[in-house]
Amino acid sequence: MMMSMSTSPPPQAPKGTVDFLPPDGDRLQALEDGFTGLARRYGYRRVYTPTIEHTEVFLRLGEATDVVRKEMYTFEDRGGRSLTLRPEATAGIVRSFVEHGLAKRVPLPWKVYSVGQNFRAEAPQKGRYREFRQLDAEAIGDAGPAIDVEVIDLAMEFLRVAEGGELALLVNSMGDGACKPAFVDLFRSYLEGRRTDLCRDCGERIEGNPLRVLDCKNPGCRAVTEDAPRIVDHLCDPCGKHLDAVLTGLDALGWKYRVEPRLVRGLDYYTRTTFEIQSADLDAAQNALGGGGRYDGLVEDLGGDPTPGIGFALGCERILLATAGAVTAAGTGPGQTVQAVVVDVAGGTAALEALSALRKAGVSADGAGWERSMKAQMRSAERLGAVMVVVLGPDEVAQGTAQIKDLRSGEQRAVALSAVADEVKGALR
Ligand code: HAM
Repeated sequence: MMMSMSTSPPPQAPKGTVDFLPPDGDRLQALEDGFTGLARRYGYRRVYTPTIEHTEVFLRLGEATDVVRKEMYTFEDRGGRSLTLRPEATAGIVRSFVEHGLAKRVPLPWKVYSVGQNFRAEAPQKGRYREFRQLDAEAIGDAGPAIDVEVIDLAMEFLRVAEGGELALLVNSMGDGACKPAFVDLFRSYLEGRRTDLCRDCGERIEGNPLRVLDCKNPGCRAVTEDAPRIVDHLCDPCGKHLDAVLTGLDALGWKYRVEPRLVRGLDYYTRTTFEIQSADLDAAQNALGGGGRYDGLVEDLGGDPTPGIGFALGCERILLATAGAVTAAGTGPGQTVQAVVVDVAGGTAALEALSALRKAGVSADGAGWERSMKAQMRSAERLGAVMVVVLGPDEVAQGTAQIKDLRSGEQRAVALSAVADEVKGALR
C-alpha cells in the first residue's frame, strides 16, 4: 500500500548531525572568519580538497587506527570504486601535496589551512557528532622545532581569542622511526604481562595498536598504564632535543603547557611532537577543542618523497559549545543586525532601488515588510538594530526625495532619492 506523503512523519536531520540556525550559524561563520584572518596573518593560505577521497587514502593512515577501522563512511560509487567521506582533513591535504608534486614546485614549508566538514560514524553525544567541522592548518616540508612552535602558537592564539576560557595545552612526543618502534615493542611486552588486568578492547589493542591503551578510561586499564614505561623516557637523542626545543619555544612565547606522556592521539600517523588543547568549560569525555602533531612519515606513506609535516585541527562544534554562555552574554543577539532599513509607504519601485543602491554602496541594509504600516516598519527597523532609517512616503517619492533618520540622535532630514546611499553611508561613518 502506498503511504500518503502527508501522513508520514516530517523528515529529521540524520542522527549525529546538527542544524546551525541563526544565531549559531552566524557564530560558526564568525569562527571560520576569525580563523581565516589569523591563519593568513601567520602566512597560511587556503586549500580546498574534496570531501570524498579514494578509501585507500585513509587506509594508508594505518588500519589499526580506530577512526579508519570503525568510523569511516565508505561506499561504492556507481563505477564500483570505493570512496570514503573524509574523517579528517590532513590525509586529503597531504594526498594533494603529493599528487601535484609540490615538494619540487613550491617553497617549503607549504603552509595551508582549510575549514570544512568531516564525517565519522561515532556514537553521537554532546560534542561528538557524525558530521562535524574542523579548522585545520598544516605546514609541510619543515623538520625543525620552530615550525612546531608556530603551529601550536597559531592554535593557542586562535583559541585564546575565540574561546576566552581556561585552556590546557598538553604536549608529548611520540618519537621517530628510530625510537618509536622500539618503545612500542617495550610497551607491548609490558602490556602482555598485565593482559588479564585489561578490558577486552585493550586486550585486542596489544597486538595492533598498544599505545591506544593509554587512552582507555577503564579504571583497570588506567591502573595498568600508571606504572607503564613512558615514551618521554625512551626518546632517542634527536627526538629528546627536538622536544626540548619545542618546549623552550613555547616558554619564550609565554604559553603554559603540561608534558603529558599519556597523550596518544586517535590517529596513528604521529611522530615526535603531539599536542592537544582542552577546555575547562567542557565535560572530560569531549573536552579536546583540538589537537595535532607531527607526521614525518605521512607524505611517504601517501607515495611522496620523505617530507616532514605538522598540523592541527580544532573542532568548531566544541568551540561553540565551550563559548555558548559567553557569546550570548556578549550580545550577539538573536537576529541579524543591519545598519540601515528602508521603510516604504509609497509603493512602486523606489524602495527596491534605494535598497539596492545602499547594498551596492557597501551598507548592510534591509526592508522591513513594505506592505505594513509605517509604525510596524519602524518597530522592525529598531528590532533589526538599524542605525539609519530611510523613509519613503508618497509625497517624498513624488518629489524625488526620501527622509533619512538617524535613530541614535533622532535627527531627520530630506535628501534626493539619488543621494540616499551616499548620505546614509556618510552618516554611518
Ligand atoms: P582529531 O584529534 O581526530 O585530529 O580531531 C581534532 C579535533 O576535531 C578534536 O579535538 C575535536 O575537537 C574535533 N572532533 C573530532 N571528532 C569529532 C566528532 N566526532 N565530533 C565533533 N568534533 C570532533 C585530527 O583530525 C587530525 N587531522 C589533526 C591534525 C592535523 N593532525 C595533524 N594535522
